[in-house]
Amino acid sequence: MKIQIINGPNLNLLGVREPEIYGNHNFETYLQELRSKFPDITIEYYQSNIEGELINKIQEVGFDYDGIVLNAGAYTHTSIALQDCIRSVKCPCVEVHISNVHTREEFRHHSYISAACLGVICGFGLNSYELAIRGIYEHLESNK
Ligand code: DQA
Repeated sequence: MKIQIINGPNLNLLGVREPEIYGNHNFETYLQELRSKFPDITIEYYQSNIEGELINKIQEVGFDYDGIVLNAGAYTHTSIALQDCIRSVKCPCVEVHISNVHTREEFRHHSYISAACLGVICGFGLNSYELAIRGIYEHLESNK
């Protein structure tokens, strides 16, 4: 099983950026933990601050991989192009957020991508990514 994690804008600054909201850990360290928890799953990681590059990556893996875990950052709240892209590919995509966006500013309450995703996980810190992988795994197993 192959899962692609995609992080959007400003998520390269995890551990540095607003640690009271996003925590003190950088993603690369967490990724090592995640890979050790799922030794049978190939977990690839990609980050970009650029909307079109996120779209290119989703198109690149979306017909080949078994699932995508996407934290689109602020593009979640703005990007119809990302919604269209998720709808265009074959594999399921799970939307994740580190913070609980619904307890934050109102502009974060709406997501353009949720409707195109298999599910949404938010508010569990970096653990949101692990929960998303488990969600994709269970979904694929139950649809075998
Ligand atoms: C975020 C929430 C978004 O509203 C914000 O723009 C981010 C991070 C999260 O993981 O909590 O960049 O997606």
